[in-house]
Amino acid sequence: MKYDVAIVGAGPGGYVAAIRMAQLGMNVALIEERDLGGVCLNRGCVPTKALYSATKLLERAESARSMGISFPVPDLDLSALAAWKDGVVSRLVNGVATLLKANKATVIQARGTIAARGRIDLSTGETVEAERIVIATGSSPVEIPGFGFHDPRVWSSDDALALPEVPERLVVIGGGVIGLEIATIYNRLESEVTVLEMMPEILPGIDIDRRAIATLKRALHAQGITIQTDTAATSLEETADGAVVHTKSGDAFYADRVLLAVGRRPNSAGVGLENVGAEPDRRGFVAVDENLQTSANGVYAIGDIVAGPMLAHRASNDALVLAEHLANGKHGGRDRVIPQAIFTDPEIASVGLSEKKAKEEGYDIIVGRFPYAALGKALGMNEPDGFFQVVAEADSQRLIGAQIIGAEASSLIAEASIAVQNNLPLEAIADSVHAHPTLPEGLKEAAEAALGRAIHAVNR
Ligand code: NAI
Repeated sequence: MKYDVAIVGAGPGGYVAAIRMAQLGMNVALIEERDLGGVCLNRGCVPTKALYSATKLLERAESARSMGISFPVPDLDLSALAAWKDGVVSRLVNGVATLLKANKATVIQARGTIAARGRIDLSTGETVEAERIVIATGSSPVEIPGFGFHDPRVWSSDDALALPEVPERLVVIGGGVIGLEIATIYNRLESEVTVLEMMPEILPGIDIDRRAIATLKRALHAQGITIQTDTAATSLEETADGAVVHTKSGDAFYADRVLLAVGRRPNSAGVGLENVGAEPDRRGFVAVDENLQTSANGVYAIGDIVAGPMLAHRASNDALVLAEHLANGKHGGRDRVIPQAIFTDPEIASVGLSEKKAKEEGYDIIVGRFPYAALGKALGMNEPDGFFQVVAEADSQRLIGAQIIGAEASSLIAEASIAVQNNLPLEAIADSVHAHPTLPEGLKEAAEAALGRAIHAVNR
């Protein structure tokens, strides 16, 4: 069978590309060796957020005491929790299957390898022919010397999210996004969690305001999570008292399990890119032009295998941009601003430039901040930690960045994303009436603060 497009990989890049391309009239084959939805739906974003919200109940039950409500000690049924989380995942995966079918995209369960331009060999022995090929194979967790996922002591994020047990002592290697999100979940499940980060600060790869990092570190500490920065894990030793993680500085940390979360690498090897002359670079990324075409004519790449933020919504945006390009010859859209949301407690979300980055890039800026503690809604939720921050160009007052740390930050960033994406000035937020009492009022007040006219904070 010959298709207009064959897509390899059905994560949030590949399946979104398949649906949109089919909507635009293309005859699409989507080739996936495992589950529809990829890492994000099955072993990443979705199960993490399910476990994040479920375990937040444990934390809420505890903090309710200060509101005069006491619960008996919660009774945790780990396998029931895992089953509920798996149910959330399968609902979404089934939903994706239904959407692909409704849009008449063909799903092929097999491993696909590019054999030549226009031809993909399948692990089933069959061959798919297509005008165009899209590679959307995502990324996998990396190992470091001394720690391998074959060792039962060492968990990848996949292992941790399967929820096999609650280890008494969990050592997390890597204070990046995955390390901190999973540390938060297991700490709530009552593991004793220690995070080792080799850089001087947690979340070193992300453009986040240092005040937000300071707020997060205070909160993690208050929750009982130990953070050791400037601490590079070097080896793992088995002792009678469990495993010991050794560090470059000579420290030792006892662990019943070790979560290795030191980054992800593009899944670009073994895809057959070399068969069309589109070899990945040293780090595994595939070079593409502004329309996501690799150096091989008719072969495209989207999502984690292309350099840029390794985020599901970035992959989906790539997919939509590529679909419009292939169907209608449209250009552009890859430079859209990509928000990031980190599910720690409190949550952190950002879009555009931080204050520091904006200054480094030579912008003359104005900044406005507003604390959660001054929001009636936040206090009523018993969630007073955190702040909203907006960064705008001084002349035009155009919003160029926003950072939110606090309850629901992951949702609240959307309003700022619209403003940054569309070059809106601070007034667009400040002069829009926000319902009271709600959390989004914090962004309006931060915009007003930048303009020197906040109502519920002293203007400086
Ligand atoms: P990461 O790159 O965010 O963090 C890895 C951390 O490990 C770094 O801070 C690094 O300095 C540290 N590290 C490396 N070797 C070490 C050693 N030997 N000892 C101690 N620390 C060491 O990678 P992560 O967290 O694995 O995430 C991978 C990708 O997935 C990222 O691009 C991330 O943005 C994305 N992701 C995003 C999510 C979100 O936005 N909510 C959720 C999950 C993943």
